[in-house]
Amino acid sequence: MLKVMNVVGARPNFMKVAPIVAAMKRARTKFRPLVVHTGQHYDAAMSDSFFRDLELPEPDTHLGVGSASHAAQTAAVMERFEPVVLAEKPDWVLVVGDVNSTLACALVCVKLGVKVAHVEAGLRSHDRTMPEEINRLLTDQIADLLLTPSADADANLRAEGIPQERIRFVGNVMIDSLLQNLERAKASQIKDELGVGESHYGVLTLHRPSNVDQRDTFARILSALESITKTLPVIFPVHPRTRKTIAELGLTNRVAAMTNLRLVDPLGYLDFLNLYSSARLVLTDSGGIQEETSFLNIPCLTLRENTERPITVELGTNVVVGTDTNRIIAAAGAALNGSGKKTARSIPLWDGHASERILDALE
Ligand code: UD1
Repeated sequence: MLKVMNVVGARPNFMKVAPIVAAMKRARTKFRPLVVHTGQHYDAAMSDSFFRDLELPEPDTHLGVGSASHAAQTAAVMERFEPVVLAEKPDWVLVVGDVNSTLACALVCVKLGVKVAHVEAGLRSHDRTMPEEINRLLTDQIADLLLTPSADADANLRAEGIPQERIRFVGNVMIDSLLQNLERAKASQIKDELGVGESHYGVLTLHRPSNVDQRDTFARILSALESITKTLPVIFPVHPRTRKTIAELGLTNRVAAMTNLRLVDPLGYLDFLNLYSSARLVLTDSGGIQEETSFLNIPCLTLRENTERPITVELGTNVVVGTDTNRIIAAAGAALNGSGKKTARSIPLWDGHASERILDALE
């Protein structure tokens, strides 16, 4: 029986860990899963609602770290996680993605000699100004088992000198969550609640510091939206970081004047899935949404200069457009009128069975 401590911290972690814990519960003679929540995200809309929607069991331990600077947050996770690992003595600690909690917990384990598996290993944007890129590089250097979502990730790891025996190509576990919840999401009433029609709308998400903490960049994106929303209403579930910076950067009035840009609170997993899966267009700076839209063949414009998920450009619907106003407007026009519309092809091992392959690798 393997005792596996599964770490979650921030919103994009929940949909990666939920199918893995569920698979471990089904294989209960072989696995004993524990869930540790670092508390990096703590608002009901950023955390609790995902536990409910994804049927994730309540955390066995909650570290309650909350928000702080990168150094303070990472340090707080490490300090609070170490005694939990020492007390529980897990056979494996499983970390996912690229948030501060991922790196902090991996670092604690490697110093204690406890084995760490990293799910979603090997993704690289090659942009070291992105905090997540540093978390990815360092976590992959120290984790014992690197579970990759796509072949480009394997190639990145090998190029960094990581021996093949530490790498396992298991596919994309977020797609396990997506497939498990697609039917349930149909029951969501979110489109009626927001008063949007069946499909004539776009969806926007923005939360990267490089976009929302910089006035010039944020303003360029808003200029593009001023144009796009003339013909397409856009729903914008606003991340708490973004809500704060809109006010701090003095953009509140400008955003309020855009009557066809509808700001709403962050949505839960099922409501958001229901909403974007019928959208004409998604504009985002999130990593996971590039993958989810590609899988569902929904046009996606990534408002960044790079992506750590090139497979979504190669085989999916993703177009990396950057943050230049005219480029965003042109790409949105092309996606909407069909001339720039991409058709997604199937992506190897994005098949709903990644969590089972992860369990095999742990065994
Ligand atoms: C974090 C991750 C990012 C991920 C994102 C998803 C890192 C370095 N960043 O960014 O990779 O894509 O989560 O959401 O780990 N806040 C709240 N309530 C919450 C959480 C945050 O109000 O529940 C506010 C706080 O003001 C906080 C700010 O949002 O200071 C930023 O939160 P933080 O966790 O530091 O980074 P994110 O931008 O959420």
